[in-house]
Amino acid sequence: MRQLNDLAGTGKLPSDLPERPPAPSGGPKGIAQQAGVKHVIAVMSGKGGVGKSLTAGLLAVGLRRRGMSVGVLDADITGPSIPRMFGVREKPGVVPNTQTLRPPMSKTGIPIMSMNLILPSEEEAVIWRGPMVSGAIRQFFSDVAWGDLDYMIVDLPPGTSDAPLTVMQALPVDGVVLVTTPQALATMVVTKAVRLVKQLGGDILGVVENMSYVSAPDGTRMEVFGPSQGLKLVIASNAPLLAKLPIDPRIAELADSGGIEDYEAPEFDELITNFLAVAPRAAATPGVPAHAHSH
Ligand SMILES: Nc1ncnc2c1ncn2[C@@H]1O[C@H](COP(=O)(O)OP(=O)(O)O)[C@@H](O)[C@H]1O
Ligand SMILES: [Mg+2]
Repeated sequence: MRQLNDLAGTGKLPSDLPERPPAPSGGPKGIAQQAGVKHVIAVMSGKGGVGKSLTAGLLAVGLRRRGMSVGVLDADITGPSIPRMFGVREKPGVVPNTQTLRPPMSKTGIPIMSMNLILPSEEEAVIWRGPMVSGAIRQFFSDVAWGDLDYMIVDLPPGTSDAPLTVMQALPVDGVVLVTTPQALATMVVTKAVRLVKQLGGDILGVVENMSYVSAPDGTRMEVFGPSQGLKLVIASNAPLLAKLPIDPRIAELADSGGIEDYEAPEFDELITNFLAVAPRAAATPGVPAHAHSH
């Protein structure tokens, strides 16, 4: 990682580079392999700061709570925020005699891989060009000992740049969850993401509208960012609205202090129920025999 940072700074390859490992079968442009991961779900948005990482984190926490095995791949290489949300600081270990990393585990047993866990400090900046970012994302998927996962949740950086493109093209993504806020701008930008996913032949599973409203102590709902735009996005994406999450000071507090796994709210429950209604089914779901759900 240090060498790659030097490369980004100087444009010169370090002289003592280790020998390049043989390309995996399928060649370097093929879809990355990870035998134990049943379903890969990408969380995407057009705009930053709309709660994409929060949604990715909540999906993982909620699915784990319902007994499934879940991992989180933080594909936001230059602005990683998953480790802080889960309070994970431990560096990944190396699986003995391999070039594979062992991802640190969250409190409730969610393996997490993020650039933040590799950097010497959380404040360190990653100034990388697109191809390096893409390479890191591929390695986070295929060179990490993820084990058996029903769902891998991939948190993307905002927009439709190299990183989302890499994830959609190089990882075996089963479906995309789109996140937006009620602001018209956010809705407009996320429709670009809709187009990207559709152009790549991806499947949009559903839409989450975050920061939809604030509940006042007397129970009234204030729509801080204006009336819901969720319906527009549902029409544009032809996918269902999975949840309208309120602005909740507890979310901000827990996400900042590494306590996201303690969050409880009816809207959160609803998000998971609705997600499971549209998500590709994990064959290992208790009571559901494998291949019972033919599409
Ligand atoms: N519904 C919400 N209520 C309160 N704070 C929120 C909510 N959604 C997101 N936040 C906070 O807003 C900030 C941005 O959210 P984040 O998930 O990092 O956005 P993104 O990944 O889309 O850039 C974070 O500090 C997060 O804790
Ligand atoms: Mg984020």
